[in-house]
Amino acid sequence: MKLVALISGRGSNLRSLFEAIEAGRCRASVAAVIADKDAPGLSLAQERGVPTRVVKPKDYANRAAWDRALAEVCAEYAPELVVLAGFMRIVGEAMVERFAWRIVNVHPALLPSFPGVDGPAQAIAAGVRLAGCTVHLVDRGVDTGPILAQAAVPVLPGDDAASLHARIQVQEHHLLPAVVDAVARGTLTLGQRPAYAADAPFPPSALRAPAL
Ligand code: GRF
Repeated sequence: MKLVALISGRGSNLRSLFEAIEAGRCRASVAAVIADKDAPGLSLAQERGVPTRVVKPKDYANRAAWDRALAEVCAEYAPELVVLAGFMRIVGEAMVERFAWRIVNVHPALLPSFPGVDGPAQAIAAGVRLAGCTVHLVDRGVDTGPILAQAAVPVLPGDDAASLHARIQVQEHHLLPAVVDAVARGTLTLGQRPAYAADAPFPPSALRAPAL
């Protein structure tokens, strides 16, 4: 299954995808990596010979024009799946329409709690005892699309947003490649109401023991 990954930062989720693909745990190939800025994570693609593109909002008249350009660049690679692997911008109508129910995002909170920015900080502020991450389909809202998989981690005494985020990211790095693999294998069917096959080997939710 051909995918395009979108990133904004260091790309640890992108690295987990590449490593899962290289280890045969994720039956996908990365056709291109696109960023909204000169993200450090682009080097992960460059060192593997995967094409990279940068589509910066400031180069466009407005958000809609940027979003249309992003959709055009994505479409050049004819992806079967678009993976927001740490993409820190909200994709707009052009993207959501062009790749309807084919865009997945990883979010560092147990949605529908704590959408938007700083999921881990929101979890600390709310005093929840369980936090985690969610892989979901992207719709027109902010972190509102159908949930595909979640993993939970405990919030430990003394945690701050950074330590909690680090614990959550360990789970993101398992969950995102596993979901992509489930889509590639056809055990997860995407759509407005995504569905796992009854015999899907991958559990749609996971409560994982943290490395303490
Ligand atoms: C992750 O925590 C992801 O959930 C959020 O952005 C962060 C990106 O991290 N959407 P990285 O760049 O993959 O390390």
